This record gives sequence, structure tokens and C-alpha cells, in this order.
Amino acid sequence: MKKTLTTAIACIAACTLVSFNAFGAGGPKPDPLPKARTIAELAQRYDSSRCIECHEETHDQWSESLHSKSILGSPRTAPTIITAIEKGLKLFPYSGVKEDSDITVESLMMCMKCHLPQLDEATDEVAREIVATIRAWMKASNAGKEDEAEALEETIASLNIGCMVCHNKMAIIHKYADGYPQYDTVYGSQEGEHEDETISKMAIAPALSESIFCGQCHGQGPNFELDHPSQCATAYGSYLFAYVAHGGSESCQECHMHKSELGHNIQSYQDETMAKMAVDVTVHARSLFWRKNKTEGVLPIGIIDVEIYNKAGHGIPDG
Ligand code: HEC
Ligand code: HEC
Ligand code: HEC
Ligand code: HEC
Ligand code: HEC
Repeated sequence: MKKTLTTAIACIAACTLVSFNAFGAGGPKPDPLPKARTIAELAQRYDSSRCIECHEETHDQWSESLHSKSILGSPRTAPTIITAIEKGLKLFPYSGVKEDSDITVESLMMCMKCHLPQLDEATDEVAREIVATIRAWMKASNAGKEDEAEALEETIASLNIGCMVCHNKMAIIHKYADGYPQYDTVYGSQEGEHEDETISKMAIAPALSESIFCGQCHGQGPNFELDHPSQCATAYGSYLFAYVAHGGSESCQECHMHKSELGHNIQSYQDETMAKMAVDVTVHARSLFWRKNKTEGVLPIGIIDVEIYNKAGHGIPDG
């Protein structure tokens, strides 16, 4: 009963928040920028290195995170994109992709929706350039050509979930109410002038500190809005339906950015602090002698009772 009541109150609170949320400082939907025609152009549009000058610590933290190399990955992601093309796109009879030259932005969106959402601002040539670059990188790595591989790896990593992907493109979720992100504005928790030369304004993104912000890419299950739904990350679904539903109250940001003290170096088990925050393990063990039967006699046996309690805000591992 108490649980039902808490859920009801949580529900009322959530609904109230939605309807009375202060409007953010987005604006009317801006005209789209001309499509980027090369990897270099797209990387330049979302270049995070221009923020270093004034946000050095944040930049250092971010560059340690997987967000800073979101299509290269650990580096497991780039090769898996190729697998998805070879074993998926090219084998599906109605995908329209038989050769690399048939690849389009739309066909890569089954991965890029979350790994590189800004690809929707580029031409199909950029989609094909990405695939060719990953292939060349894999070839150079396999052939032991280290310098060439390193340069290509840098090109792949130049496309990433950088500052302006989170603080502009993905910053505002309810666009009918809060408006569309404007090109000259960084979205955070303050409003006013911003010292940057071209991005001269700061405005409030109402949900940047809420779990729903991360949920945009961290998945609930199959991506049904795509012609061919893919499924990769599901942490946000697990967060909502397992953690919050059982009374969990912390946000992604609270655990991953604040409690972990990692800030923008958003990590998982690869980081020791996160690994420690992940599970409680209790082990009870006892040994005894057991008289089994006449032939085998007395045997030493051990009874080990292991309890693992998941303290993360979702199932682990994910994906
Ligand atoms: C624009 C999409 C996007 C947004 C927004 C986003 N992420 Fe991610 N995140 C990713 C992708 C994609 C990866 C994996 C990159 C890779 O390795 O291929 C990732 C990686 C991670 C990882 C590391 C996972 C691992 O296996 O080590 C954590 C933790 C994480 N994100 C948490 C968050 C949190 C918390 C937020 C909100 C503050 C957030 N993310 C916002 C897309 C996003
Ligand atoms: C719903 C958003 C979403 C989609 C769509 C998506 N991914 Fe992911 N992917 C993520 C996130 C977030 C992570 C990291 C966190 C995790 O593992 O939960 C991730 C992790 C990965 C990883 C492991 C990362 C690493 O660095 O080792 C690989 C590989 C991967 N994705 C490949 C793909 C491929 C290939 C596709 C397309 C077929 C794809 N993903 C589609 C969001 C997505
Ligand atoms: C994956 C999404 C993501 C990326 C990428 C990202 N940020 Fe943030 N940033 C956030 C979130 C979420 C918050 C609010 C955290 C909170 O709730 O306290 C934030 C907060 C901030 C703040 C406010 C102060 C603070 O540190 O909390 C600044 C300044 C900032 N980010 C700058 C940057 C810069 C510069 C970059 C690029 C180097 C960057 N961010 C990249 C998600 C991101
Ligand atoms: C010339 C210096 C300068 C440059 C360059 C710069 N910023 Fe800032 N930024 C500031 C200052 C100063 C503030 C206000 C900081 C404060 O009051 O905490 C700020 C605030 C912000 C905030 C709002 C933080 C909050 O608390 O809500 C975000 C987000 C942000 N910057 C992102 C960026 C990004 C992304 C870039 C690169 C595209 C960038 N900044 C480049 C100086 C700069
Ligand atoms: C109560 C704290 C807590 C909350 C809330 C939380 N996380 Fe986590 N998360 C953790 C811990 C601890 C780990 C490390 C365990 C691990 O990686 O296996 C982790 C791991 C992850 C991973 C890596 C999963 C993997 O395969 O190991 C991703 C991705 C992630 N979190 C994203 C999110 C997102 C997105 C949210 C919000 C929707 C969120 N987390 C909410 C504590 C939390």
C-alpha cells in the first residue's frame, strides 16, 4: 500500500513538473544549416577543442569518456558498424544497400541515431566517407601500419558526442513547449551572455540534469521509429521500469557525474569508483566433512553462498 502511495505521489510530482515546467529559452525551429559534405566539415561544426580555452577541466574530463570517441568506441564500435553493414544491411533484401556506394545517412541511422546524431546534418557522401575511413583504419591496423592507423583513428574519433551535441543539439527535449535549440546558444543551467565569439548566448535547458536527457541515447528497447528497428543500449528502459519502479530516486547525472566525482568523464565499470559503486558482494562459506557412503567414505565439502546485490540504477551489464 505504502508503495502504491509513493508511486502515486511520484506520479503527481512528475506530471506537475511536466505541465508547470518553466519554458526554456529555445526558439522557433531554425532553418537547417547547409549539409556538411565531408567528415572534416561535420567535425568542425561540432569541434569541442574550441571550448578548451575556458572550460579546460571539463574538456579534459570529457576527452577520457567514451562520448569523446562515440563511433570508434573502446575501439569496438567502428568494426561493429562494419559488421552491421556486411551481415545486416547488405543481406537484407529491401535495405537498398548492396555495395558501400549505396550507403546513405538514413541507412547508418540505425547506429548513428545514438552514436552520432549530428550525422543528420551531413550528406550521404559523408556516410560513405565514414565507412571507407573505418575500413582503411581496420586494414592499416591489421597490416601493422601504425602511423597510418593512428591518423585514421583520429579522423574517426573527430566525429563524436562533443560539447555542442549535448549542450545544443540534444539539449532541449520538449521542443513544442521549450523551443528548438538556436545556433548561437549554449544550453545549461544559466542564462545571459556567453563569452564565446560565435556562441554568444547561454540559456536554460530544463531537462539537462534529468535522466530523460541521457535516455535520449541510452535506449529503452528497439528503436521503433526506424524502418528497420535496431536495439543496442537499453539502460534507460531498465532505469525506468526496474530502478525507478522499485523506488530508486537518483538520476543518471547524480550517480555518474556527482557521486562518482568524475564530472564529464562519464564512466562505467572501467573506472574503479564506478566498479565499487556497482555491487555489494557477500560471501558466506563453511567447510565440513560428509560421510557419503561406504565406498567413498568421508568427503570434505565446502558450501559457499554468494549474494550479489546490484546497486546501479539499471541492469548490468547493458547492451
Ligand atoms: C547523443 C547520445 C548520448 C547522450 C545524450 C548520452 N550518451 Fe552516454 N553514450 C552514448 C554512446 C553512443 C556511448 C557509447 C560509445 C561507444 O563506446 O561506442 C555512450 C557511453 C556512455 C557510458 C559508458 C558506457 C561503457 O560501456 O563504458 C556511460 C556510463 C554513459 N554513456 C552515460 C551517460 C549519461 C549519464 C548521460 C547523460 C548525462 C549520457 N550518457 C548521455 C550516447 C549518449
Ligand atoms: C538507442 C541508441 C543506440 C543505437 C541505435 C545503437 N547504439 Fe550502440 N551503444 C549505445 C550506447 C548508449 C552504448 C554504450 C552504453 C551501453 O553499453 O549501454 C552503446 C554501445 C555500443 C557498443 C560497445 C561500445 C564499446 O565501446 O565497446 C558497440 C560495439 C555498439 N554500441 C555498436 C552499435 C552498432 C553497430 C549499432 C547499429 C547497428 C548501434 N550500436 C546502435 C547506443 C546505441
Ligand atoms: C553527454 C553529454 C554531455 C557532453 C558531451 C558535455 N556535457 Fe557539459 N553537461 C552535461 C550535463 C548533463 C550537465 C549538467 C550536470 C548536472 O546535472 O549537474 C553539464 C554541465 C556542464 C557545465 C556546467 C558546470 C558543470 O560542470 O556542471 C558546463 C560549463 C559544461 N557542461 C560544459 C561542457 C563542455 C565545455 C563540454 C565539452 C568539452 C561538455 N560540457 C560536454 C552533459 C554533457
Ligand atoms: C572565452 C571563454 C569561453 C569559451 C571559448 C567558451 N565558454 Fe562556455 N562559458 C564561459 C563562461 C565564463 C561561462 C559562465 C561560467 C559560470 O558562470 O559558471 C560559460 C558557461 C557555459 C555553459 C553554461 C554552464 C552552466 O552552468 O549552465 C556551457 C554549457 C558552456 N559554457 C559551454 C561551452 C561550450 C560548449 C563551448 C565551446 C563551443 C564554450 N562554452 C566556450 C566561457 C567560455
Ligand atoms: C544509483 C546509481 C546509478 C544510476 C541512477 C545510474 N547508474 Fe549507470 N551505472 C552505475 C554504476 C555503479 C555503474 C557501473 C557498473 C557497470 O558498469 O557494470 C553503471 C554503469 C552504467 C553503464 C555501463 C553499463 C555496462 O554495460 O556495464 C551505462 C551505459 C550507464 N550506467 C548509464 C546510465 C544511464 C543512462 C542512467 C540513467 C538513465 C544511469 N546509468 C543511472 C550507477 C548508476
